[in-house]
Formats: sequence, C-alpha cells, structure tokens
Amino acid sequence: MRQDVIISKDLQKELGAAIASVSPDRLFVLTDTTTARLCLPVVSSFPCLAAAQHITIGATDEAKTLETLAEVWTALGEGGATRHSMLVNLGGGMVTDLGGFAASTFKRGIAYVNIPTTLLSMVDASVGGKTGINFRGLKNEIGVFNEAKTVILDTQFLRTLDDKNIRSGYAEMLKHGLISNDEDVAELLRFDLDKINYEVLKQMVAKSVAIKERIVTEDPHEHGIRKALNLGHTAGHAFESLALAENRTVLHGYAVAWGLICELYLSATRCGFPTERLYQVAQFVRETYGTFDITCKQYDRLYEFMTHDKKNTAGVINFTLLGGVGDIRINQQASKDDIFEMLDYYREN
Ligand code: GLY
Repeated sequence: MRQDVIISKDLQKELGAAIASVSPDRLFVLTDTTTARLCLPVVSSFPCLAAAQHITIGATDEAKTLETLAEVWTALGEGGATRHSMLVNLGGGMVTDLGGFAASTFKRGIAYVNIPTTLLSMVDASVGGKTGINFRGLKNEIGVFNEAKTVILDTQFLRTLDDKNIRSGYAEMLKHGLISNDEDVAELLRFDLDKINYEVLKQMVAKSVAIKERIVTEDPHEHGIRKALNLGHTAGHAFESLALAENRTVLHGYAVAWGLICELYLSATRCGFPTERLYQVAQFVRETYGTFDITCKQYDRLYEFMTHDKKNTAGVINFTLLGGVGDIRINQQASKDDIFEMLDYYREN
C-alpha cells in the first residue's frame, strides 16, 4: 500500500484520522531533544495523542546510532507496545529515519506516521520509505525500505527553523526542480530566502514533494529512476565526508548544493546540459551557500570518497546527470580525469 502524503490544513484532524485508520492498541510519539522543546507543544494537547507515551532521543546526526535505536526499542517494549501499536515520528530526518527503522523492525514491524519538522525532512527524508541508522562511521549504512503509513507536512514548523536549515532543505528542492521542469527551476532561483514568504514556500514544498512522490511510486527500491534523486549527491557526499574527516561542519543540503555545481558541470560537458542554466545555478549556489574551500591536494581524497559511495556498482562511480532540466540520465560513469576537471570547475566558479 502506498503511503499517504498530506500537505496539512488541520494537523489535529489529519493526525487523528491517520491514527484512527490503524486504531493502535498503544501509541508512542518520538521526538529528539530539540523537537521535544519546539514542536511537541504544538501537538501534545491533541485529544488523539492524549494516551500517547513519549520517547525522546538525542538531537543531531551523532545520535543516529545503534545505541539510540536500542533505546527506542527498549522504550517501546517497556511501554507495552505490540505489533498493533503505532509510532509517530515528530522531527527532522534523523528522527524520521531512525524512528522509521525502529518501527519497521520492532516485532517485525509496526505502523508509523512521520510529521517532519525541518525543510530537509519535509521534501526528502520523511517521504519514500528510506529508514536507517549510521554504523561504523558510515551514514545510513543499516536500514530498510519501509514507508510510513502517513506523512503529514505542516509548514508551520518551518517558522521556528533557523536560516541554515531552511537553506539546507532548499537545496533538495532545487534538485527536485532540476530533475523536473524549467518553470520550477526559475521559481526556485527567484525565491527570496532572506525574506521568506511562508505561504509561497508552502506551495513550493507541495510541488517539490509531489516530484519525489512521483519518482518513488515508480521505483520504490531505487533500481532505476529513483536514482534521479541522487543528482548532486555523489560529489555532495564526498564533500560531506571530507568535511567530517577535517572537523568542518557542513549541513547536508549545503554539500548537495556544491555537488550540484559539480554534477551540472559534468552534465554540460558530457550530456549537453545548457551552460546558461549551469551558470545561473552556480551563481545561485555561490550566493546562497557560499563555498566549501578545497585545494587540488584534496582531489585524491575526494575521488576516494566517491569510489566508496554506496550507490556505486562493482567499484564504478555512478553519477546521475542531466541532458537538460528534466532530462534525466542515470548510471553515468566518469573517469578520474573527468572528475578532477569537474573539481577544477567547482573551485574556479
Ligand atoms: N534521498 C533520496 C531518496 O530518497 O531516494
């Protein structure tokens, strides 16, 4: 059964209906320490959550561990959860990924609902059934595909989200525009992130998530077209890994935005992506995300990170590229020389 993705008009009613459709014997709400403080008060007085037991875990990706997962399993067990219980994940991607995995594995799987509270989780992590935890230093190394019963996107939570996290999520929206159509890209490049119009942002979020839903419905387990969602991520993950190794803090979406410059350059040189669009996106990314400084001495390290990407097959680095906006070319390979040239372009532009 496909998951229901709802752009919220009345969170209390929609959550009530999602819970009633399962009529769980016990109900749990999972938050992290940040969303327990900022977001839980929005829902905790809802009658549909009156009997819910609360589980709170540490915030940030550092907490996305086997130990935290065990804490959630323990809380579910001690709270009397059965296979007919339900978990509501209220938080960013860490909470929805880890909570989704906890629900998918507890007693072989209980129903769960995602209420994403960050832009990144609204347009990406909470939708499409990728769940999991980090393991042995590798991001999302252990997990399963299993969709939430319902995902409710309520953009009121974005009003308490800091600017950097808005920008981080926005990079995934830019990616969705690029794999979809020119009008969406133009709108995304025009939108004023310094003075956010939340009503307009809400409509853009709805459009963005509809793109992801369409792709995930076609290819839930990423055998083909879902790889379109990896645009910008091969180089982006390498930047993220380098940042981690060098103790530089980089939010996921920032790395994706820098990765988009790289991969649109490869798209232009190898697949005919229009250079004018490449320049516009590169300029937008520079102005919105700044730059992640690298020197040519780090190219080998970045290349090495790319060879370890879990999206590769048989050690060959796989890129998703574009022949134009919306013209998706999956499984594109590039030589080491191509990749070094791409990094030169990234540094110089
Ligand atoms: N974040 C990419 C995907 O869900 O496939």
